[in-house]
Amino acid sequence: MTTTIITAMIALDIAAALLRILFIIYGTFLNTLLNLEPLLVDAGLNSLLSDANLVVRLASLADVEALLKIEEECFEYPYDRLVFEEILRRRGCTILLAEVLDNPIGYVAFEKKGHVGTIISLGVVERFRHRGIGTYLMAQALTMLKGAGVRRVVLQVSVKNLAARRLYEKLGFKAEGLLRGYYRGEEDAILYSLE
Ligand SMILES: CC(C)(COP(=O)(O)OP(=O)(O)OC[C@H]1O[C@@H](n2cnc3c(N)ncnc32)[C@H](O)[C@@H]1OP(=O)(O)O)[C@@H](O)C(=O)NCCC(=O)NCCS
Repeated sequence: MTTTIITAMIALDIAAALLRILFIIYGTFLNTLLNLEPLLVDAGLNSLLSDANLVVRLASLADVEALLKIEEECFEYPYDRLVFEEILRRRGCTILLAEVLDNPIGYVAFEKKGHVGTIISLGVVERFRHRGIGTYLMAQALTMLKGAGVRRVVLQVSVKNLAARRLYEKLGFKAEGLLRGYYRGEEDAILYSLE
């Protein structure tokens, strides 16, 4: 009887250990599949990852219409078609487009020049804000830039744009200087950098 109980306990221990190993392998596989760096997990993306309908992909010239739709919803002075076409054609530039059920909901545009990366623009449509999508897009851009050998990332943001400033600061960006009249000669910008 005692031998049976001990054997059962050992078998249970082995089963629990096997289960733990399976979970670790599954977790690693999932991370690889989603190309997630620890940075992304740190950025609090758990709720986002449960949204299976979210797709983030590289944008091409065929996506200019979708990008314009997001842009017009996000900015008072939106980029026009020519700007997006120019960004998409420019060497070293990338735009990541976020979609939910084929609807464009956000994008991040960035550029690599040597060891310096620049975040050109970031936008998430109003009804999808506060769900970690802006952070996710930024984290993906930073991962790609880092993977391409970038050591320093810079961006400019209006001093008045508290939402974006907080997002960048949460990702570790540090304010480096003030660019007076950067926007239309009227609004100051802060230059942020991340080493
Ligand atoms: C800035 C923007 C991209 C944020 O997108 P988002 O998907 O809502 O961002 P997230 O959900 O990832 O938020 C990340 C953090 O940013 C900060 N943040 C976002 N929106 C905020 C708001 N309205 N007020 C204050 N902080 C805000 C918070 O610190 C937030 O973290 P928390 O949710 O843990 O508090 C979005 O508001 C936007 O598109 N704005 C208009 C375009 C724009 O200003 N782009 C930046 C140009 S430089």
